[in-house]
Amino acid sequence: QPDVLDSKNLRIKLVLLGDSGVGKSCILLRFVRGQFDPSSKVTVGASFLSQTINLQDSTIKFEIWDTAGQERYSSLAPLYYRGASAAVVVYDITNPETFLKAQFWVKELQKHGNPDIVMALVGNKADLESEREVSREEALAYAESNGMFFIETSAKTADNVNQLFEEIAKRLP
Ligand code: GTP
Ligand code: MG
Repeated sequence: QPDVLDSKNLRIKLVLLGDSGVGKSCILLRFVRGQFDPSSKVTVGASFLSQTINLQDSTIKFEIWDTAGQERYSSLAPLYYRGASAAVVVYDITNPETFLKAQFWVKELQKHGNPDIVMALVGNKADLESEREVSREEALAYAESNGMFFIETSAKTADNVNQLFEEIAKRLP
């Protein structure tokens, strides 16, 4: 559940999950600092950043855990998704294996996450359209059948990154 600080201020714990290299840290850097790092380093363990947005009359403070996607860290994930009121599951539209990994995280969240969790399925690297290997239709159908919302983003061009977080805020219970 988001923490209601008062009627106009919400604080929400959000977790980013997904395979290594899909762009989780880059999405976060884009959202929080408006920057893109083409030589982003793999995340070790996890990292934390927060960002506040205004939506209609309210302020929403996102407290974001950026998990490490490398297999060796997967056992740490429950530490970060437990108690989260939103989860963003990211894959890379040019890499079908990462879409399968996203489905693994969705199942894990359905089994062990907060039952009211707001989940987003995010196809990142949308700027690489000519290398696309996961269709929009397939991903949308998967998201809809799992009660998630779906969006394609580019951390590189900033396309849909702010919209992703706004959509999450709008869907909070
Ligand atoms: P882990 O920390 O290992 O889990 O990976 P990650 O998901 O955090 O990936 P990261 O954000 O570090 O990005 C991996 C690589 O993808 C980097 O070389 C980025 O520059 C690149 N990248 C991230 N987002 C985009 C994007 O939207 N478009 C393109 N073209 N490249 C991207
Ligand atoms: Mg990372």
